[in-house]
Amino acid sequence: MHAVSISGTGVFTPEQTISNAELVAAFNAYADRQNALHADEIERGEREPIPQSDEGFIVKASGIESRYVLDKTGTLDPEIMHPVLPERSDDELSVMAEMALKAATVALEKSGRTAADIDAVICAASNHERAYPAIAIEVQQALGINGFAFDMNVACSSATFGIQAAADMIRSGSARAILMVNPEICSAHLEWRDRDCHFIFGDVCTAVVLERADLATAPGRFEIVSTRCLTQFSNNIRNNNGFLRRTREGHMQDRRDMLFRQEGRKVFKQVVPIVIDLILGHLADEDLKPGDLERLWLHQANKGMNDMIGARVLGRTPEKGEQPNILQDYANTSSAGSIIAFSKYSDDLEPGALGVICSFGAGYSAGSVIVRKAA
Ligand code: COA
Repeated sequence: MHAVSISGTGVFTPEQTISNAELVAAFNAYADRQNALHADEIERGEREPIPQSDEGFIVKASGIESRYVLDKTGTLDPEIMHPVLPERSDDELSVMAEMALKAATVALEKSGRTAADIDAVICAASNHERAYPAIAIEVQQALGINGFAFDMNVACSSATFGIQAAADMIRSGSARAILMVNPEICSAHLEWRDRDCHFIFGDVCTAVVLERADLATAPGRFEIVSTRCLTQFSNNIRNNNGFLRRTREGHMQDRRDMLFRQEGRKVFKQVVPIVIDLILGHLADEDLKPGDLERLWLHQANKGMNDMIGARVLGRTPEKGEQPNILQDYANTSSAGSIIAFSKYSDDLEPGALGVICSFGAGYSAGSVIVRKAA
């Protein structure tokens, strides 16, 4: 079995941002219009008015202050309330592949690798913009990579599951080096007209180059000590959109369940203990103690969740910088969140330093990757 390195990471961040103030102003304008439109029904008690959203609530409940998006214009237009992304022809690069190429270019450069060194591409994301051909194969072709490529989806845990899949293939010898990308167009599966969740997501893409440790040369690389993944079925985060939609009555209606929805409070309460047990169990199996960890790069969904997980895993309140959050600027970027944190907050660690990359979300699913900074 070969040891595996994470040799380079890359983050593509879209140019446009939406602050909480802009988001709330657009939502409240939408709510006012809807309430005016349905004033008679509301008056007769046949319809509930849409309540206003509130910046203070959003920051307090989630820690999110802003988010990056591919298109803010449509999203902030009270008559549209979703991103507007012009359709591309089959001969043009898809949106996800375009994002992936930008993140991959950085990750390849950091790892000191070129397309010729890579044997496979995995596109691990919570939504794929089409059924097939795989986005990963499009990325493979665009970069001129030989070998094979495939898409996989484990919702917010896609990146850590992707790391485990890639690491297992490298360990067993079926690939020398693998490019794993996480293009997340979360803005397109978010219901911006629902105040319970309209603040949650942002768009981004991360990329990770994994390779055989004995071939790795990049300064600042990490070795994977081990990986651990788990799933446990839950309906508390769900999106019912799918290819059977056309086969059912009312198929193409604008239905709430065809976008992201969740029971946020239940998710918070149920997922936090799953993640704490996963990390502590994983460390114990490796004969490691929480005190051996110098950093936790957690999934970026909710600041309160991360504070709780960090405190329970370390057995104390994490010191500043020990558990970096990026969600205040990026919001929840699904599978990419923990990789953004890892990419931005790992260069300062000394050789030998241990840390955990951990993501969690729909499924439920959770993945833990213990890494050690290489000498
Ligand atoms: N503005 C003002 N009030 C709002 C609001 C908004 N944008 N959104 C919801 N509220 C209201 C609710 O209607 C509710 O009112 P009520 O008490 O009168 O019923 C109240 O605020 C509390 O709402 P609740 O949904 O219980 O808040 P919360 O503290 O659970 O925070 C989340 C909501 C989504 C931030 C939080 O549950 C969370 O992050 N959960 C984990 C989610 C997660 O990790 N998901 C993974 C996704 S991949």
